[in-house]
Amino acid sequence: MAQTFDLLLKNGTVHTPGGPVQAPVGVRGGKIVAIGENGDAAEVIDCTGLDILPGVIDTQVHFREPGLEQKEDLESGSRAAVLGGVTAVFEMPNTKPNTDSADAVADKLKRAHHRMWCDHAFYVGATAANAPALAELERLPGTAGVKIFMGASTGDLLVSEDSELARVLASGHRRVAIHAEDEERMNARKGERIAGDAASHPVWRDDESAMLATRRILKLARAAKRRIHILHVTTPAELELIAQHKDVATCEVTPQHLTLAAEDAYPRLGSYAQMNPPIRSAAHRDGLWHWLNQGVPDVLGSDHAPHTIEEKAKAYPDSPSGMPGVQTLLPLMLNHVAEGRTTLQRVIELTSAGPQRVFGLSGKGRIAAGYDADFTIVDLKAQWDVTEEWLASRCGWSPFTGMKLTGKPVGTIVRGNRVMWEAQLANQAVGEPVRFESTSFG
Ligand code: DOR
Repeated sequence: MAQTFDLLLKNGTVHTPGGPVQAPVGVRGGKIVAIGENGDAAEVIDCTGLDILPGVIDTQVHFREPGLEQKEDLESGSRAAVLGGVTAVFEMPNTKPNTDSADAVADKLKRAHHRMWCDHAFYVGATAANAPALAELERLPGTAGVKIFMGASTGDLLVSEDSELARVLASGHRRVAIHAEDEERMNARKGERIAGDAASHPVWRDDESAMLATRRILKLARAAKRRIHILHVTTPAELELIAQHKDVATCEVTPQHLTLAAEDAYPRLGSYAQMNPPIRSAAHRDGLWHWLNQGVPDVLGSDHAPHTIEEKAKAYPDSPSGMPGVQTLLPLMLNHVAEGRTTLQRVIELTSAGPQRVFGLSGKGRIAAGYDADFTIVDLKAQWDVTEEWLASRCGWSPFTGMKLTGKPVGTIVRGNRVMWEAQLANQAVGEPVRFESTSFG
């Protein structure tokens, strides 16, 4: 007997774990129930000419709520996410207050429920004070695990000393996300900053600042027998090193570091190109691509870090670090695929199966029966310009405005709900917490 579905995606190229297939995909109760079977459906979406990817998961965003809503909030940030084809985000703890307690996690989950357009999880920020509690905190439903800032960035979260880092790593079991820049070295080098010249940002926060921190945390992680995830890696040398330590470390690269290069970015964008760790040279960027195609980075994260135009327009170094990116993550990567820098298969791996593997997601990360019906539907041939009108982040700017791209997100489906189609949003946000294997039994 023919099946009955809530939703049927027809005539698209479906990117399954076994490769691309031309097959209908049937959804019931928010889950994928059949690949390659036709049937009646309450809603049918014709995907002729389109590719159906597993929902894109962005494992590093800053959505600024509570406390910094002039830059972004959970609604506006997640709206930008789904307009860019993202179905789930992991949000960072450097809000006001910091997300460093059970109450702060509960508060974010409450604010997010059906106000965020995509599914979500929240990191807990490590501090010297909450180290003993982290083993409990990392197990709260809706948490993506613990985040450590080894070097100061936006906000005051910081764990920079080896003894404190060891205490944090000893408290708990899940993989810990790391911002690896060496605080002591950066403090000693503050004199390298040139007032009014953002091009001095990567001179101050140099390669060695990143490498030193990465070397230290690899050693500490091994001693603590704790797995780590190194965020936004910016130097090829670190990727080469991490490749020797994959038993303890996974890592992330960002589309910004794969797209922008210092030689062009600072003259053109000034402090709008300022982020931590910094945009570095074209040679660094090319090196990141080399290691990406060697399979070393496990995930792509946007490090969406919006600041207002007023804040960014301050003269360097008073300008804050960070740029938006959740909406442009997939478009930039599709364009890189169109230009031959990597394959669509690799981008899919980095945005779905990679996050699933690194963070142990339950029921997300692949198009397979029984999994959440999260899909990112794309037109690989569409040629378009990134416009201000299309961008949804409250910060009101992007370093990529005006870029001509090939490959565009057409639809975003979250657990069977069509939340975005051709840049139009659904009536209702449906975001729910992401589930994790390590905490699924409480
Ligand atoms: O550039 C950055 N901005 N890097 C970070 O680590 C934090 C982020 C922010 O929150 O603004």
